[in-house]
Amino acid sequence: MTSARRSTAGIETGEVATEHRMRRLRRTEGLRRMVRETRLSPADFIYPVFVAAGHGVREPIPSMPGQSRLSVDQLAQEAAELRSLDIPAILLFGIPDFKDAEGSGAWISDGIIQQATRALKDAQPDLVVVTDVCLCEYTDHGHCGILADDGSVLNDASVDALARTALSQAEAGADVIAPSDMMDGRIGAIREMLDQGGFEDRTLLAYSAKFASAFYGPFRDAADSAPQFGDRRAYQMDPPNGREAMRAIERDLAEGADMVMVKPALAYLDLVREARQRFDVPLAAYNVSGEYAMVKAAAANGWIDEERVVLETLTGIRRAGADMILTYHAKEASRWLARTGA
Ligand code: PBG
Repeated sequence: MTSARRSTAGIETGEVATEHRMRRLRRTEGLRRMVRETRLSPADFIYPVFVAAGHGVREPIPSMPGQSRLSVDQLAQEAAELRSLDIPAILLFGIPDFKDAEGSGAWISDGIIQQATRALKDAQPDLVVVTDVCLCEYTDHGHCGILADDGSVLNDASVDALARTALSQAEAGADVIAPSDMMDGRIGAIREMLDQGGFEDRTLLAYSAKFASAFYGPFRDAADSAPQFGDRRAYQMDPPNGREAMRAIERDLAEGADMVMVKPALAYLDLVREARQRFDVPLAAYNVSGEYAMVKAAAANGWIDEERVVLETLTGIRRAGADMILTYHAKEASRWLARTGA
C-alpha cells in the first residue's frame, strides 16, 4: 500500500520505487513527443483509388464515405493533391466497362488500369504508381482467376493471365506491381514475365498473407467484384492460420517478391509483428475497406473521435512493424499530421 500525497508536479508520491516511476516520461507534451517510439508520417501511406470508365466521373462509394470512383481524367488532380500532402504512392484498382469469363480487360493495353497508369505518369512522374494485379474486377463471375468447368479456379491458367496483366501494367509505366489474386506460383511467373519483357527494374509487392476476410465487403461494392457464386476460401488464406502466412511470405520472397504484405491489418497485427521479426524486407499492411467503413460509420454517429481513432489505428499498425500502410484514410490522416506536427 502507498501513503499517497501530492507533489508539486501533480504526481502522487508514495512508496513507489524510483525505478518504477514511469509517469515522469508523460508529464508534458514536449516530453511525450521526445520519448515517442513510433512515428507516423504521410511517407508511410499508399492511397488506394478506384478508377472507372467515363469522363468527369467522381462517383461517391456509399459504403466507403469520402471515397469515390474516379475516371482517368480526374487522376491528375488526385496526383497533385497526394503530392501536396507528401503521400508518395497511389494504388490503382480498375473498374472496367466490360467483363468476360477470362477477365481480358485486365491485360489489354488500353485497359482502365493501363490508361490510368499512363495518365498518372504523365501528370506526376515522381508519384509511385502501384497497380493491383487480379482478375476479380474483370471477370463476369467475379472470381480472381479463370474457372474450370466445375466452377473451381484453375491455378496455372490463372497465373498465365495474371503474368500478362502484370506485363501490360509495366508497359504502361507502373512502378510497383502488386498481385492480390492468391494463386500459387504467380510471383515467380510474374517476375519471369517482367524480366523477359525488359522490366527487370520493376518492383513486386506481393499480397503474400491475404486472408479470406469479411472485411473486404465495401471494396467489393466499390469495385463491383463480388463473386457471383461461392466465395474465395479456396484461394485466399484461412483466417486462423498464422504459421501458413509465414510460409507464404517466405515462398513469395524466394520467388522474387521485393516487398510483402499482410492483409487485412487490424485482425492480423500479430502477423505483421511476426513478419517484421522474421523478414528484413519492406513490409506493408492493408487497412482494408471494412476497417475504414466501421470507423466512418461510428464517426458519423458521433460515437468516436474520428481523428484520434484513425491516427491511433495507423500508429498501431506501424508499431506492429509495418513500414507501409495501404489506407483509404491516407489523405485525411496526412492533413491531421501536418496540422498537429506530430
Ligand atoms: C482483389 C482485391 C480485393 C481487395 C484488394 N484487392 C478484394 C478481394 O480480394 O475480395 C480488398 C481491399 C479492401 O477491402 O480494401 N482481389
